[in-house]
Amino acid sequence: MQNLIIKEMTLTDYDSVMALWQHTENMGFSKADSKENIAYFLQRNPDLCFCAWKEDKLVGAVLCGHDGRRGAIYHLAVDQGYRGNGIGQQLVEHCLYGLQQAGIERCHIHVYAENKLGLAFWKKNGWFLRPELALLSKDIR
Ligand SMILES: CC(C)(COP(=O)(O)OP(=O)(O)OC[C@H]1O[C@@H](n2cnc3c(N)ncnc32)[C@H](O)[C@@H]1OP(=O)(O)O)[C@@H](O)C(=O)NCCC(=O)NCCS
Repeated sequence: MQNLIIKEMTLTDYDSVMALWQHTENMGFSKADSKENIAYFLQRNPDLCFCAWKEDKLVGAVLCGHDGRRGAIYHLAVDQGYRGNGIGQQLVEHCLYGLQQAGIERCHIHVYAENKLGLAFWKKNGWFLRPELALLSKDIR
């Protein structure tokens, strides 16, 4: 797509990114998505979170991080009017390149089981389901 620029996400992008996420189907939000917590995430994961801009319009965004062992991608979203142009794929490629540069060899993603289109996107792009695993969580406070 012409005039598409992918840039590292900064905290100044927060309001635009949150507006995109809130207009995107199949996104779940929590306190982890507050401005303060996203600032912490960006500080811990420099070079791994990206925004896609078409001129001055935000058309895509993704969070990516790692814990020194495995990578994780969160909240990949492309504006509905701009889908099917390779933007989602380019955002993921930027994340995976960054992880590779950091020496990380595998990345995980959590997808709502009912998000059939999202799952189809990941599978089409080489990601595989892990039916032998279950996700468990615990609130720490
Ligand atoms: C999933 C999403 C990010 C895809 O973004 P996109 O920019 O339209 O995707 P791309 O154009 O980069 O697609 C890359 C490839 O995946 C394919 N693809 C895209 N969406 C697909 C889908 N729903 N099912 C199957 N394949 C899909 C494309 O055809 C393309 O393949 P090609 O290179 O052979 O043509 C976008 O649809 C979205 O924001 N969905 C809502 C949020 C969501 O579900 N996020 C993912 C779960 S966390």
